[in-house]
Amino acid sequence: MRVSILLLFPVLFFAGCDKQSAAARDAQAQARPGYQTAKTFCSQCHDLPSGDQYPPAAWPYVVSRMEGHMESAHKRIPSAAEHDAIIGYLQSK
Ligand code: HEC
Repeated sequence: MRVSILLLFPVLFFAGCDKQSAAARDAQAQARPGYQTAKTFCSQCHDLPSGDQYPPAAWPYVVSRMEGHMESAHKRIPSAAEHDAIIGYLQSK
């Protein structure tokens, strides 16, 4: 009896942990400055990408390229302040 509880414990522990960390990750992303701006602009054509998809230094180039897509698609282009907020958000993770 004692042995089976000990064997089961890590399974339950890690299963619970995993679920919590996914929810916690979403909550953390939404709490970061610039999330709303990034969400508004970047989820118009596809899902908002995760900031860890690229190293911080790569994001300005990606965002500028996306602004080109927005221009071609006749969507609103981020202002200079919005552009900086989006890059800040993506670079913060
Ligand atoms: C007008 C539509 C449109 C909007 C708005 C848009 N994208 Fe994209 N995105 C695309 C298209 C089309 C592709 C595929 C072609 C390409 O990669 O340029 C793409 C691909 C991507 C990719 C994968 C390609 C790569 O270089 O890794 C990333 C990351 C990305 N977008 C990030 C963003 C971010 C960040 C924003 C907000 C600033 C954004 N997108 C807003 C149209 C859009």
